[in-house]
Amino acid sequence: MDFKGIAAVVTGGASGLGEGAARRLATEGARVTLFDLNQERGESVAKDIGGVFAKVNVADPESVKAGFETARTAHGHERVLVNCAGIGWVEKTARRASSGDIVMHRLDKFQHVINVNLIGSFNCAAISAGGMLDIKPGASGRGVIINTASVAAQDGQIGQAAYSASKGGIYGMTLPMARDLAREGIRVNTILPGFFETPIYEQMPPEVKVNLAANLQFPRRFGSPAEYADLVAFMVSNDYINAECVRLDAGARMPPK
Ligand SMILES: NC(=O)c1ccc[n+]([C@@H]2O[C@H](COP(=O)([O-])OP(=O)(O)OC[C@H]3O[C@@H](n4cnc5c(N)ncnc54)[C@H](O)[C@@H]3O)[C@@H](O)[C@H]2O)c1
Repeated sequence: MDFKGIAAVVTGGASGLGEGAARRLATEGARVTLFDLNQERGESVAKDIGGVFAKVNVADPESVKAGFETARTAHGHERVLVNCAGIGWVEKTARRASSGDIVMHRLDKFQHVINVNLIGSFNCAAISAGGMLDIKPGASGRGVIINTASVAAQDGQIGQAAYSASKGGIYGMTLPMARDLAREGIRVNTILPGFFETPIYEQMPPEVKVNLAANLQFPRRFGSPAEYADLVAFMVSNDYINAECVRLDAGARMPPK
C-alpha cells in the first residue's frame, strides 16, 4: 500500500511506540490522526507532524466513535489503523501478604486492563474496518489494521495475568479478524514488542531495566520507537503480509520473573 496522501489513525499516538508510528507514517506522506488521553502531548505531537489530535479514551465506545468522526472529517476514511493505546499492570492472581492475609487479584483492575488493552483495540479495529468498507478498494485493497500486543501474550511473567490476558486476546483475535475482513481487502497484523525505550518504563528503577535486558539475545538493549515504526511501515507497505503476529524482541524469551 502506498502511504502518499492516505489517512491513518494511531491510538496511543501521543507517546512511545504510537508516537513513533505516527511520526513515521507522517514522514511517509500519510495524514495522521492521533487518539490519546494525553491531550497536551497529543496536541504537541500532532502539531509537529501536521496531523490532528482527538482526545479519545479507547475504553469508552462513545469517545472512540467521536474520535473516528473527528479523524474522518479532517482526512476522510482512514486506510490505516495502528492500535497502540495500552496500559501495563502487575498484580498476582492470589498471594499471602506479609501480614499473613490472603490477597486476591482485584477484579476491577483485571477488568480495566482488559477494557483498555483488548476491548479498546477490538472496538477501534471494528469501527475502522466498518469505515473502510465504504472506501473504494485500490490495487492494495481497502486498508490495514495493525495491533500492538506484547511478548507477554506468549510468555507472561509473574504478576502479568491481566496484562498477558489482554495481549493474548489481541494475539488470538488477529487471525479470525483477518479472515473476517479478507474478502473486503482489509489486512490485519499484530506486533508483539519485547522491551522498548518508552515512557511506560519511566518509573522503573534502572536495575530492573538491566534485569529485563539480560533476557535479550542480540542486540542486548531496549528497542527504539523508530524500530517499532519500521515494522509498522513494513506491514502497511507490503501487501502480502496478513494475519501475522510478529515478535519484535531481539530474541527475548521471558522467564517466570
Ligand atoms: N514499551 C514496551 O516495551 C512495550 C512492550 C510490549 C508492549 N507494549 C505495548 O505497546 C503499546 C504502547 O506502549 P508504550 O510503551 O508506547 O507506552 P506509553 O505509555 O509511552 O504510550 C501509551 C499511550 O497510550 C495512551 N493511553 C493509555 N490508556 C489509554 C486510553 N484508555 N485511551 C487512549 N489512550 C490511552 C497513553 O496516554 C499513552 O500516550 C501498549 O499497548 C503497550 O502495552 C510496549
